[in-house]
Amino acid sequence: MAFRTLLAQRPTGIQLLARTSRQGAVTPCITSLAASESRRTISSTRAVLHENPLGIPRKPPAPGAGPKGPAPTMPRMQRGLPQKMPIKGVKHIIAVASGKGGVGKSTTSVNLALAIAGMNKRVGILDADIFGPSIPRLMNLSGEPELTGTEDRLVPLTNFGVKCMSMGFLVDEEAPVVWRGLMVMKALQQLLHQVEWGELDLLVIDMPPGTGDTQLTISQQIPLSGVVIVSTPQDIALIDARKGVNMFKKVNAPILGMVQNMSLHVCSNCNHESHIFGDGGAERTAKEMNLDFLGDVALHSDICQLSDKGQPVVVSRPDSKHAQYYKAIASKVVAKLWPSEAATPSS
Ligand SMILES: Nc1ncnc2c1ncn2[C@@H]1O[C@H](COP(=O)(O)OP(=O)(O)O)[C@@H](O)[C@H]1O
Ligand SMILES: [Mg+2]
Ligand SMILES: [Zn+2]
Repeated sequence: MAFRTLLAQRPTGIQLLARTSRQGAVTPCITSLAASESRRTISSTRAVLHENPLGIPRKPPAPGAGPKGPAPTMPRMQRGLPQKMPIKGVKHIIAVASGKGGVGKSTTSVNLALAIAGMNKRVGILDADIFGPSIPRLMNLSGEPELTGTEDRLVPLTNFGVKCMSMGFLVDEEAPVVWRGLMVMKALQQLLHQVEWGELDLLVIDMPPGTGDTQLTISQQIPLSGVVIVSTPQDIALIDARKGVNMFKKVNAPILGMVQNMSLHVCSNCNHESHIFGDGGAERTAKEMNLDFLGDVALHSDICQLSDKGQPVVVSRPDSKHAQYYKAIASKVVAKLWPSEAATPSS
């Protein structure tokens, strides 16, 4: 059954939000969202909102389970730290992160994932940016994820051979997600553990900016094989990138290295080269922080325009210089994740 059809059958947070945004009035918190509903739905909706923001139908209680149904699947706290839980069927998980927004995390995630998929790996992308999902646009995907036969997991959408899941599939492109942290965390849990990826060699998680709840949840609850830090060479981005690095170090997530995005600008008219955001800042920072430098991606209007059209440069211009940047980075990442295959030539 289509996911949105199911949503239509029971009021959920998503449905509420869609309704609210269609009416043009965006209310700033769950409580006031719920208050706009009839009295009966206030309490029931609230329960659904907090427990199950994506509205995934629940299984009936297992025989012998307590009155509240089967035990929750959320990892239990152990000595104050949540237990890490692998994602079913997924061999390696990497996060693409930075402290700052707009430095190219999503663009890098997509092109890196596609470049690695081109190296004979089964790859998926999880968009962990609940408030600003970019994957639907970048991967030219829209529509409703189906539910699995058991109706407890979402089926990812696929384009260019890469499976994708994003909050953006569950709400209209212009509808804001107006949720408090608790809801966001629960939605993240569902995106992490209730998606049917099948068998994947690699899941790339496109992270939101910052060093908050989402970053902590993902680094503490998911066994990350590594983190790729993206930064521009600009000091203001590097300051935040350092914070990102330090946060992942603190939670013992291995850092694969740093990507320097938008380093060199090549004018599409005259081929004049300039370092708009400074020269080599991310490379220097990587050295100072004892991290590997994974490579450069130049600032070019093609990358931006093709991204906006949902035609990532790695697949739409596979022989371009830009695609080569991403493929070079992909080769380094693959060599780190699968050291025994390090000699495999990248194509
Ligand atoms: N190397 C690049 N050259 C040109 N535009 C880029 C490049 N990298 C990213 N962009 C553009 O910059 C904007 C922000 O990129 P995005 O990947 O969404 O950043 P983030 O996910 O870090 O917020 C987008 O419009 C994207 O197309
Ligand atoms: Mg992004
Ligand atoms: Zn010029």
